[in-house]
Amino acid sequence: MAWFRKKEPLAEVDFDHLPRHVAIIMDGNGRWAKKRGLPRTAGHAAGAETFRSIATYCKEIGLEYLTVYAFSTENWKRPPEEVNAIMGLLKRYLLEAIEQMERDRVKMCFFGDLSPLTAELRALCEQTKEISRHYDGVQVNICLNYGGRDEILRAAQTYAMDCQEGRADPNHLTEENFSRYLYSNGVPDPDLVIRPGGEVRLSNFLLWQSAYAEFYVTDVLWPDFSKEELRRALASYQHRNRRYGGVTLS
Ligand code: IPE
Ligand code: IPE
Ligand code: MG
Repeated sequence: MAWFRKKEPLAEVDFDHLPRHVAIIMDGNGRWAKKRGLPRTAGHAAGAETFRSIATYCKEIGLEYLTVYAFSTENWKRPPEEVNAIMGLLKRYLLEAIEQMERDRVKMCFFGDLSPLTAELRALCEQTKEISRHYDGVQVNICLNYGGRDEILRAAQTYAMDCQEGRADPNHLTEENFSRYLYSNGVPDPDLVIRPGGEVRLSNFLLWQSAYAEFYVTDVLWPDFSKEELRRALASYQHRNRRYGGVTLS
C-alpha cells in the first residue's frame, strides 16, 4: 500500500481552518547524512535547523500546538557518541531559545522523563519552560526521553497512588480524568501526525493521544522537510473526512 507515499500535489492550504495541533516524528536524519557520506551526527545538526525553521513557520501561520518527537525512550540504544551529539545539539538549541524568547514568544514544554538527562540540560529545560510559561505564540512540546508506553505506565502509577491516598476514586475513572495524568495534560489531542523518513509506524509516539489523529507519511527525510512539505501535509489533512467511528451524513 503505497498510495499515501506518493507526493501530494501542492494544494492550497486554508489557513483559516488549520488543525489545532500538529505532531511530527522528526525521522530520517541518519539516512540524510549517509546519502551525503557524512557522519550521522551531521544529519542531526541539519535536523535541528529544520526544526527551528518549521517551528518558526508554525508560529507565523498561527498554529496553536506543535509537538515534536526529538528523542525516544528507545534511542538510548544508539552509540554513546550519537546520543552525546544529540544532547549537545539540544543544549545549543535551548541556549539560543532562551536568548530569543522575548522576541519569539513561543511557549515551550517538554514531554518525557527528563531525569536521565544531565543536571545542566534539565535546568535549561526548566528555565525555557518557566520563562515562556505565559507566552501566547505557538506552544511547542518537545518530546525528550519520551515513550508512549512509559507515559501511560507513569500515569497509571500516579493514578493508583492517588487512589491509595484517597485523592481519586477508581469508580469514577474516565478517559478525560486519566488524560490529566499524561505529560500532555491540558493539550488537545493531535489532529495530524506527520512522519517524514517514510517509515509507516508510530515508534511509541503519543499512543494515547493519537487515537483519532490523521496520519501523514512522506519519504522526504526530516532535514529536507520544508515549509512546502508542511503545507502539503496540511492540505492533505484538510481533505480528510474525520468520522471518529460515526457516519458522514450528506
Ligand atoms: C531521527 O533520525 C532522530 C532521532 C531518532 C533522534 P534518525 O537518527 O532516526 O534517522 P534515520 O532513521 O536513521 O535515518
Ligand atoms: C522515532 O524514530 C524517534 C524519533 C524521531 C525521536 P526512530 O528512528 O527511533 O524510530 P524507529 O527505530 O525507526 O522505529
Ligand atoms: Mg530513524
